[in-house]
Amino acid sequence: MKAAEVRSKFIEYFKSKGHTHVESSSLIPASDPTLLFTNSGMVQFKNVFTGSEKRPYTRATTHQKSVRAGGKHNDLDNVGHTSRHHTFFEMLGNFSFGDYFKKEAIHYAWDLLTNVYKIPETKLYVTIHINDDEAFKIWNKQEKVPAEKISRFDKDNFWQMADTGPCGPCSEIFYDHGPQPNCPDPKNCKVGCSCDRFVEIWNLVFMQFNRDDKGIDHPLPKPSVDTGSGLERLSAVMQGVASNYDTDLFTDLFKVMSNVSGKKYSKGHNDETSIAMRVMADHARASAFLIADGVIPSNEGRGYVLRRIMRRGIRYGKKLTEKSLILPTVKEVISKMSDVYPELKKRQDFILSTVKTEEDKFLETLEHGTNLLTSEIKKLKTKEIPGEIVF
Ligand code: SER
Repeated sequence: MKAAEVRSKFIEYFKSKGHTHVESSSLIPASDPTLLFTNSGMVQFKNVFTGSEKRPYTRATTHQKSVRAGGKHNDLDNVGHTSRHHTFFEMLGNFSFGDYFKKEAIHYAWDLLTNVYKIPETKLYVTIHINDDEAFKIWNKQEKVPAEKISRFDKDNFWQMADTGPCGPCSEIFYDHGPQPNCPDPKNCKVGCSCDRFVEIWNLVFMQFNRDDKGIDHPLPKPSVDTGSGLERLSAVMQGVASNYDTDLFTDLFKVMSNVSGKKYSKGHNDETSIAMRVMADHARASAFLIADGVIPSNEGRGYVLRRIMRRGIRYGKKLTEKSLILPTVKEVISKMSDVYPELKKRQDFILSTVKTEEDKFLETLEHGTNLLTSEIKKLKTKEIPGEIVF
């Protein structure tokens, strides 16, 4: 099943259960100083959870543009080296604002995964918060998930958006991709292992508290639900591939990179070319979407994170070719994703000119730095470069 269909089936399912389809919000959270970027679907509903904002609906569903780079949830350094980390990703979610709670949230998730997407139950595992006997009962008695497939965790099963704000215990659903060659302990591999065997595909947060700046949790006016399922991970499951990067969300980007560089992407390999292509694919997506939402590369705040992402992408691109790789890759992102996110097409010229300017600036800096370093190395009498010169 193509990613586009995974996305639309999710939204259609929740619409059929009385949810309003709300458009993805901007990657820049509206007047929220606690967050650099929208890092999940619940961000645009934060004030609805706390009760300070009212909407004409109590059930919503979204496919939300999200970025996790900088701040509390930061995946930047892992990107390229694993099969499932991204800076930019899409989060599918359903939300209840004081409407349904654990019973329905769990039922909807299980029903959609097993009856609509038809993922075999044998491949699915569940985690709950260490003290959440109610969630255990619902999974075990209502959905008939065997007790041995439900594990309890403490901190890993408590979700908070930032240091303050709505939060609560959560229950995660994992997909078993089968034994992995990188597993550090294959005999005892289980949910929670650091290898890529068990991948979290959905997080159901039972929003019960609002955490204040002293770390004290205050009960929300009404218990609510916030869920998030990464489109890239779910698509990998639906396409029978072990890596998000092997889904149709990414393969066209690799084709463009291969055409420009003459190098080949190797599925699941950690050779220099494949790592560099994954980094570029992810960072080109993040750059296109962040610039479309008005972030400009700079030396502080959001702009600094974008600059780091872009420069990391360009640096890895240089491992593949002397030609510009970020520009054609960003172009492909725009053409591939504009039907779902029309802001990309609308701001295409601005996105491309911003990418070009940043690339030129960075290459100039690199050249200047390299010349400086080479001339200092020539002058050296020992094998050490003095600290003050490096500085
Ligand atoms: N907010 C939760 C998460 O990001 C569920 O979407 O995991």
